[in-house]
Amino acid sequence: MSLRGKDLLSVHDLSLADIEDIFALAKQLKTERKQGIEHHLLKGKTLGMIFQKSSTRTRVSFEVGMWQLGGMALFLNSNDLQIGRGEPVKDTARVLARYLDGIMIRTYSHAEVKELAEYANIPVINGLTDLMHPCQALTDLYTVLECKGELKGRKMAYIGDGNNMANSLLHTCAKVGMHISVATPHEYKVNEDIVKEAKADAAQSGSVIELVNDPYLAVKDADVIYTDVWASMGEKSKWQVRWQALARFQVNSELVSAAKSDAVVMHCLPAHRDEEITAEVMESAQSIVFDQAENRLHVQKAIMALLMGA
Ligand code: CP
Ligand code: NVA
Repeated sequence: MSLRGKDLLSVHDLSLADIEDIFALAKQLKTERKQGIEHHLLKGKTLGMIFQKSSTRTRVSFEVGMWQLGGMALFLNSNDLQIGRGEPVKDTARVLARYLDGIMIRTYSHAEVKELAEYANIPVINGLTDLMHPCQALTDLYTVLECKGELKGRKMAYIGDGNNMANSLLHTCAKVGMHISVATPHEYKVNEDIVKEAKADAAQSGSVIELVNDPYLAVKDADVIYTDVWASMGEKSKWQVRWQALARFQVNSELVSAAKSDAVVMHCLPAHRDEEITAEVMESAQSIVFDQAENRLHVQKAIMALLMGA
């Protein structure tokens, strides 16, 4: 079954073969672009990019990616769309589907993205919701594959807030057979439904999923240490309370030295130095955060070409 015409709302909806196809095409597009070879796989096609939250990487990598594939992208700030004045999502979806070949959306509510996808008969790509960030997590595991050579049997330790990133990393590790240990405070655990979905996939792939409260337990034997901000976009609760609960989940050199000696450190960015990650670790030789950021371009080009291509 190919990905053509499908949506990408959650990694849980993908098969292992889909993920392998995305990674293989991303590798080809990345390698060949560096050799000066262009692939206009989306010539004449258009992607609408609806943003209800800020973005640097997602916006620029999708826009540049569309251009490199021979198509074009439209930046649509939701405050400037009629959706920002109350036009129903289901109407916006059906209108945009008459003009565009694909939609990428970054918003708060995951249900809104599902509704958009239900009513738009063109591919819809989730560019981050409060619940998930699938394009980032796929890129992250592609980056791990690049630097470790394999995913199955490797171990990721996710440290900090049980947020959209943690949820999508759980989904993605479970699909590809990578072990994942998630260390969060009790107050900021990952989503229970996502854990159930990930565990169902893990039973197939052989991935071991562990949810703990001790960051040192999580990083034991880890090949990858991953963290993300302590307050995501739109997070309403008081930062003093969050910081207090999350303080012992900082990724610092002491924690990193408790993982495998060749462990890499990852962060989806933007990062807050000396909060969830120390400046020292962020700038260390073990940090691959900018490789991750670069790979957003290559992996999303593969995703768009597979969903929206001929
Ligand atoms: N990692 C990520 O999605 O970055 P932006 O918020 O800058 O798009
Ligand atoms: N968890 C972060 C990720 C940003 C890319 C947020 O949602 O703000």
